[in-house]
Amino acid sequence: MALIAANWKMNKTLNEGITFINELNKNIDDVSGNEILICPPFTLLNEISKIKHENLKIGAQNMYYEESGAFTGEISPLMVKEFCEYVIVGHSERRNLFKEPNQWINKKVLCVVNHGLKPILCIGETEEEKKKKKTNEVLETQLKACLKNVSENQIKQVVFAYEPVWAIGTGKNATPQEAQDAHAFIRGLLTDMYSQTTARPLKILYGGSVTPENAAELIQQKDVDGFLVGGASLNVDSFVEIIKKSKK
Ligand code: PGA
Repeated sequence: MALIAANWKMNKTLNEGITFINELNKNIDDVSGNEILICPPFTLLNEISKIKHENLKIGAQNMYYEESGAFTGEISPLMVKEFCEYVIVGHSERRNLFKEPNQWINKKVLCVVNHGLKPILCIGETEEEKKKKKTNEVLETQLKACLKNVSENQIKQVVFAYEPVWAIGTGKNATPQEAQDAHAFIRGLLTDMYSQTTARPLKILYGGSVTPENAAELIQQKDVDGFLVGGASLNVDSFVEIIKKSKK
């Protein structure tokens, strides 16, 4: 079963979110057979959790690694837990615009799993790193730093997202072969760090300009277990199309 996650980023007011979910609820039979996750802005979590179809899951786009205290503008695991099953951690926009280092992302991964939630850990190289053929090196550095002290038992709760920075919001997706190579490399690293039995069933999502046009070919790749969709998840029709084309 593929996991198809919508990352709405900083988009949709309450009314817009409600309209989307009501429409998606109506299409729920068409999208059965996949795990579907919506990651809306925090302001929509409460309402969406009330109106969504029971087969839809909810995730947060970010979370701080302390339970409470003087952290203006942040959101705690206890708050997120009231509505969410998943939390996106280490998205490249958080890394680049908000300067989140691997060390924080590691604390977040540990905090998310310790609260019984599932992190979606994002990793990926920039265009410059790709040009210098440093993709694998970057993936290894990010993965190892972000998974420091994560036990073999805890890693089973973690979902991975390969999101090449050059593909995010650019309309320039990784080719199926590029995605497969990166995903196989990530699974190989996880096999070395843990074991083959543990690494094999872990989900590795692809993210970066996924559309109804490229989803079918990407999902056919052996190590592509689903998608993290930004732009194309803002419209119900294109999101439903992607889900329909992503049977695994
Ligand atoms: P995109 O974003 O689908 O708009 O490229 C993906 C993401 O940032 O998760």
